[in-house]
Amino acid sequence: PRLVLASAPAKIILFGEHSVVYGKPAIASAIDLRTYVRAEFNDSGNIKIEAHDIKTPGLIVSFSEDKIYFETDYGKAAEVLSYVRHAIELVLEEADKRTGVSVSITSQIPVGAGLGSSAAVAVATIGAVSKLLDLELSKEEIAKMGHKVELLVQGASSGIDPTVSAIGGFLYYKQGEFEHLPFVELPIVVGYTGSSGSTKELVAMVRRRYEEMPELIEPILESMGKLVDKAKEVIISKLDEEEKFLKLGELMNINHGLLDALGVSTKKLSELVYAARTAGAIGAKLTGAGGGGCMYALAPGKQREVATAIKIAGGTPMITRISKEGLRIE
Ligand code: PMV
Repeated sequence: PRLVLASAPAKIILFGEHSVVYGKPAIASAIDLRTYVRAEFNDSGNIKIEAHDIKTPGLIVSFSEDKIYFETDYGKAAEVLSYVRHAIELVLEEADKRTGVSVSITSQIPVGAGLGSSAAVAVATIGAVSKLLDLELSKEEIAKMGHKVELLVQGASSGIDPTVSAIGGFLYYKQGEFEHLPFVELPIVVGYTGSSGSTKELVAMVRRRYEEMPELIEPILESMGKLVDKAKEVIISKLDEEEKFLKLGELMNINHGLLDALGVSTKKLSELVYAARTAGAIGAKLTGAGGGGCMYALAPGKQREVATAIKIAGGTPMITRISKEGLRIE
């Protein structure tokens, strides 16, 4: 083909962020916000990237191999572009080709919000460019390449984000392997703090603490892993929906406390978490890397009230749905 359009979804980590980097399990799901990537050949022989709607609508960034042009000087956009550049280079290498490729990106996913925007852009880019080059890759292979891109940019990554983004649905993830969990329509509300945390820096910060005080941090990570296995048991159990939600909510609250102990929560995140609980959420926790970004609340029958409480507390509520669909070639 001369032109390919692909899209990939955002995700939320329901349980187990950070501990998943240490080989513990995590549970995550795709949500219905997507990043779209259009890929085509160009005659310059260079890689060209253009991004729209990255964080601020109308921001246009373009760069060719050694020069970066910013219409808006924005660090986050530079980070997004490095995921895209590595993704394209990896596919070219895999296809053993040296050809000019232009990609254009449009995204509905807030950057740095802990919703996996960088994985979604990497997965959609790999999907679009591999198709353009007639490279037949499975979704699993694309997820693995997305993980490689994250490792190149971030240094450390569990690979959960690109896996969920490529495969979609509701997944239990551990050390590069995943298992589909039965699809549960969770009544959730996502709350965005409005600021973003750097996944790379937060992962590095937890690593530093772990190395300085392994006797304290290791048991926290251990508890997180056990909590995720309990959540999985609840999800696959024969309990009725109401009982499942109650148990999952309790586990969410414990998970938030443990993440706070690791140092990745912020005043704003915890304010949104408590506002949601006060408004009737059964459970609420930060999701993703933390340091800003998003929290989510489980609020059966109370989604509107919780969304209002998040707004009053200064956050942006997003009523999103869990999505079954991963990478899609449009
Ligand atoms: O910031 P996010 O949503 O991409 O979350 C990253 C999740 C971490 O567990 C903190 C890192 C990882 O690689 O799994």
